[in-house]
Amino acid sequence: MSQRFSGKTVIITGACRGIGAGIAERFAQEGANLVLASNDSQRVTFVAEQLATEYAVNAVPLAVDVTDEGDIQNLYKMAHERFGSIDVSVQNAGIITIDRFDSMPRADFDKVLQVNTTGVWLGCREAAKYMVKQGSGRLINTSSGQGRQGFIYTPHYAASKMGVIGITQSMALELARHNITVNAFCPGIIESEMWDYNDRVWGEILSTNEKRYGKGELMAEWVKNIPMRRAGKPSDVAGLVAFLASDDAAYLTGQAINIDGGLIMS
Ligand SMILES: NC(=O)c1ccc[n+]([C@@H]2O[C@H](COP(=O)([O-])OP(=O)(O)OC[C@H]3O[C@@H](n4cnc5c(N)ncnc54)[C@H](O)[C@@H]3O)[C@@H](O)[C@H]2O)c1
Repeated sequence: MSQRFSGKTVIITGACRGIGAGIAERFAQEGANLVLASNDSQRVTFVAEQLATEYAVNAVPLAVDVTDEGDIQNLYKMAHERFGSIDVSVQNAGIITIDRFDSMPRADFDKVLQVNTTGVWLGCREAAKYMVKQGSGRLINTSSGQGRQGFIYTPHYAASKMGVIGITQSMALELARHNITVNAFCPGIIESEMWDYNDRVWGEILSTNEKRYGKGELMAEWVKNIPMRRAGKPSDVAGLVAFLASDDAAYLTGQAINIDGGLIMS
């Protein structure tokens, strides 16, 4: 594989599994210096060690809560001290809960917005301080198909992911003059532990007396609506993120790009 990111510092949040781990692997394959952040310290350490061994790259794990300003400041400070630049920052950490309107706790609503939206903004804000000084950088934010269209029983998640697109557009306008691009990607159904949860909990709530969803059945039904007739893999998403971080995407900013096998066309 080409080594487009050799000598570049790439920070990825939510890198301990799923889409974030897939993105980390792609950047490792292309020679980046990686700083991998997650609130699951054990698993992110495992991923970093695995990638460092397999691809002979620098991969530093860090325990970070993306809603904690001190943790975020420490993440970029450490990455800059260690590698001397902050070239690409991927704000990927995210959570979901699924509930009917009359049983969703306020705390769940607030938490989803804090992690998915405030967390993205905090990462962009901190990374941009370094990128402005450098006169270059790439900010890449994780939205969702729900950033395009809300879905049932997840008003907080839809709001949070639409918010990510708003942050992306606003910061793209502000940072363009500094040679910093800000883009978002909107995954559809991607195989991950988050989707195991979605399949189980949406499956429970959407089950009726006529139709009860067993394990994997709801996901299989929804996958039939995807024009490409399969769920995505973290590596599918990682290819897009690597493109957005590459020189080929130098003139692309303020965009939100669907990566969903054709599920949403807009
Ligand atoms: N899987 C999908 O189908 C799908 C679709 C659209 C969007 N997304 C988005 O993609 C991103 C990754 O999703 P995934 O499917 O890999 O999910 P996942 O649940 O498998 O992984 C989420 C990651 O975020 C980390 N995380 C959660 N809260 C955190 C916090 N407060 N601080 C730091 N790290 C935290 C977790 O440790 C984990 O590494 C999320 O933002 C999600 O909303 C996923």
